[in-house]
Amino acid sequence: MRVLVTGGAGFIGSHVAALAEESGYEVAVLDDFSTGSRANLRPGARVYDVDLRDREATTSAVRDFAPDLVSHQAAQVSVARSRREPLLDAQVNVVGGLHLLEACGAAGVRVERLVFASTAAIYGDLLEGERAHEGSRVEPLSPYGVTKLAFEQLLAFWEKQRGLTSRVLRYSNVYGPRQAPRGESGVVAEFFAAARGGRALTVFGRRRAGDGGCERDYVYVGDVARANLLALRGELPHAVTNVATGRATSTRALAERIAALVGTGAPVRDAPPRAGDAERSLLDPSRVESVLGALTPLEAGLLETARWYREH
Ligand SMILES: NC(=O)c1ccc[n+]([C@@H]2O[C@H](COP(=O)([O-])OP(=O)(O)OC[C@H]3O[C@@H](n4cnc5c(N)ncnc54)[C@H](O)[C@@H]3O)[C@@H](O)[C@H]2O)c1
Repeated sequence: MRVLVTGGAGFIGSHVAALAEESGYEVAVLDDFSTGSRANLRPGARVYDVDLRDREATTSAVRDFAPDLVSHQAAQVSVARSRREPLLDAQVNVVGGLHLLEACGAAGVRVERLVFASTAAIYGDLLEGERAHEGSRVEPLSPYGVTKLAFEQLLAFWEKQRGLTSRVLRYSNVYGPRQAPRGESGVVAEFFAAARGGRALTVFGRRRAGDGGCERDYVYVGDVARANLLALRGELPHAVTNVATGRATSTRALAERIAALVGTGAPVRDAPPRAGDAERSLLDPSRVESVLGALTPLEAGLLETARWYREH
């Protein structure tokens, strides 16, 4: 069976592509390399260097490969950038996504199932003691969250009206090998880069500098790839599934652990809150745990990640 992975040159998409290939699927990657890298591709990988905003190029790539299954990981992924350039978010995450959906219905193409990489950002801020389950209220705080939610809803429409089966995976904060530090997202990669360079690890406060920072639910990329494989195979019973551990970690606890793991003596520094950061994001992992079992504990995932950074 053939699997098309959009965003397959990116952090998460490259893990999905590799696992699909190891599981016996024929894999092709569609990516415009805007944030992805050729170094993330497997040797000899089949690649369509295509921007999803280009409707014709998207259709012709999908027609050419004629996938049975589609894993849609490509996106404008930066929350901060989505606030500055909401139009870009809409163009890539909504219009680009629609080009992909239309291509899946093009003559000669028969896609059995599409899996979409959605996000905890659609839930917005959570109250103390609360964990978002798939039926919780949605209250995205950024154009990024809004466009991801819009595409989830378009998928539901496509399934009802056009017969394309889909599965939505809402990831919490994903970390692990190949994540690139970007300055404004991917805090685990940021902290590893800072610690390795002997620079301070900056903890932005939750309400004020020095309060330990925001709380996040960190999930290891290997688990995210496994959830994607199950979803592609049609082994997830629900239309929407959180991919998360359900465990809260403060930014300060994360920074201190990474600084200790890297061991360069890089300091951890407090800073005032950063505009737009959700104070608390934590998901209910019951659905994903019922199919994957217990997910990788943060300590084990960080050890794997540290090993990867040492080797690369
Ligand atoms: N990393 C996280 O913590 C996290 C959390 C929740 C959801 N997600 C979602 O997971 C998916 C993968 O994110 P990631 O962290 O691997 O980011 P990433 O930036 O590493 O990967 C995104 C990939 O999409 C490609 N891409 C971007 N715009 C494109 C376009 N117009 N046409 C074709 N390709 C394009 C990029 O080149 C890149 O390879 C995204 O959909 C993101 O919204 C990520």
